[in-house]
Amino acid sequence: MSERPAPVLRAEGLVKTHHGEGAPARAVRGVDLCVERGEFVAITGPSGAGKSTLLHLLGGLQRPDGGSLWLDGECTDAYSEARWAIERRKRIGIVFQFFNLVSNLSVADNVELPALLAGVSPRQARAEREGLLAELGLAGKERSMPGELSGGEQQRVALARALVNRPPLLLADEPAGSLDSKGTREVMRLLSRFHRRGQSIVLVTHDARLASAADRVISFFDGRIADDATLDGTPARGAGISGVLELRD
Ligand SMILES: Nc1ncnc2c1ncn2[C@@H]1O[C@H](COP(=O)(O)OP(=O)(O)O)[C@@H](O)[C@H]1O
Ligand SMILES: [Mg+2]
Repeated sequence: MSERPAPVLRAEGLVKTHHGEGAPARAVRGVDLCVERGEFVAITGPSGAGKSTLLHLLGGLQRPDGGSLWLDGECTDAYSEARWAIERRKRIGIVFQFFNLVSNLSVADNVELPALLAGVSPRQARAEREGLLAELGLAGKERSMPGELSGGEQQRVALARALVNRPPLLLADEPAGSLDSKGTREVMRLLSRFHRRGQSIVLVTHDARLASAADRVISFFDGRIADDATLDGTPARGAGISGVLELRD
């Protein structure tokens, strides 16, 4: 009997209230969530439900007011900002709706940068970058600047950048939200492909059709999980999806 690996992500009682102008926004109101290795989880719900806030908490981009979060079984509650930055380099890749590429760096440099920051040798960073860009259909675009690419291409570069350090977990917030239908299909097809190779993914989307690419769909409403089900309809209690596979096969 082998020990079951710790979930890539576990959250308990996460709470986050935003204090801006006007009344405080209770964006996340007590979320318990467990994502097993290799799972593809979609979090869907209407605009303003708190999905982005939840994803920011999961990636350490915002800190919760209450609750706890574990990465690979390790509690993150005492992590400093610097520690979180390291975790985002090694264990968590993140893609956003608006790509967030460095506009004055080439495609190649955008993808290699996180690898170099993680201490990978320039040679290795280059090899990883070449492999990923070829895989994502971007061979030949290495020297382009982000502004010269289509939205779909830019999002694929962002995906390459998020995956270059082979993080066990990919967080994606409306990654097709600014793309046309072709770009949307491309991005969803690539997420599915990485998932089939064992990549754990948490995808936030307001679009229920995109959520159906995942094998588990969480409905988020008013800062809370309203429903959590695998696609065959059974409740997703730790849904035993295995696949401790390498990202690259
Ligand atoms: N930085 C912020 N400051 C103040 N209010 C915020 C901030 N971010 C989000 N909110 C509010 O929190 C609620 C949830 O927002 P968000 O997490 O962006 O939801 P979603 O991604 O589901 O649209 C909304 O009422 C939103 O206006
Ligand atoms: Mg959002």
